[in-house]
Amino acid sequence: MPAGLKRRLYLAARDVRHPGPALERRRIRAEVASFLGGRDLLVEYEREVRDSGLMEHLLQKGREHHDAVVATGAGHSLGAIGYTEGVYLYAVQRMVRPEVVVETGVANGFSTAFSLLALKANGAGHLHSIDLPREVGRDYEPGTFYEGEGRAGIPPGSEPGWLIPQELKERWTLILGRSQDELPPLLERLGTVDTFMHDSEHSFDCMWFEFNAAWPALRPGGVLVSDDVNSTEAFGRFAAQEERQPVRLAPGMALLRR
Ligand SMILES: C[S@@+](CC[C@H](N)C(=O)[O-])C[C@H]1O[C@@H](n2cnc3c(N)ncnc32)[C@H](O)[C@@H]1O
Repeated sequence: MPAGLKRRLYLAARDVRHPGPALERRRIRAEVASFLGGRDLLVEYEREVRDSGLMEHLLQKGREHHDAVVATGAGHSLGAIGYTEGVYLYAVQRMVRPEVVVETGVANGFSTAFSLLALKANGAGHLHSIDLPREVGRDYEPGTFYEGEGRAGIPPGSEPGWLIPQELKERWTLILGRSQDELPPLLERLGTVDTFMHDSEHSFDCMWFEFNAAWPALRPGGVLVSDDVNSTEAFGRFAAQEERQPVRLAPGMALLRR
């Protein structure tokens, strides 16, 4: 059975078993469709992702990650956004048609792959990603990472974004380091940004710092996306500060339009 069909059957069976979360997913899907300008556009973007083969590629790489990282039992995870959120992120990037995209938090490269796939489909744009990778099997100085979060790990000897298909990397620049150090000079260098996505350190201080650094650099109509919006109060407080209504892409992922 093709992977896409298998996944759709699995999702349909899950919705029958758990109607509450299914209703929530339908509400989120409606929010995304409304943001994009209609359900037809979302369906079209979903078809583009299906036709690209990215899902099958990521499933295969997810299995490789499981064997090299999760199965070691050292407590590391893939730490990635889900497929549905990935497709919504793709749709947002297709709609915004950004020239300049900035992202913090790459790890194995799920969100990065969906954004890069959108830039390829747009035929325009460049993604600048900042990541402080946690490589499985390496020792780090105590305090290198904020420990109040999941431990997304990359396989020994790999680079952040190792699972991104090679042909998508043309429109990508990776900066290694802490976003607290690397984001201000990057934004200074780029000037204006069309899309910003936070998925690095989910401490209040880091999220608050990133949102307040990126927002003034966003062009009017540009979009700030954040994963793990419920992990601290930072996203809710920032939305209130800027008087913006969040558009949800998942229960824990949302965007604000500048
Ligand atoms: C949740 S993972 C990113 C997942 C990725 N967006 C995806 O969908 O696959 C978070 C990443 O941010 C990195 N990180 C942690 N603290 C950071 C910091 N202060 N600055 C930059 N990256 C950081 C982690 O090591 C990890 O690689």
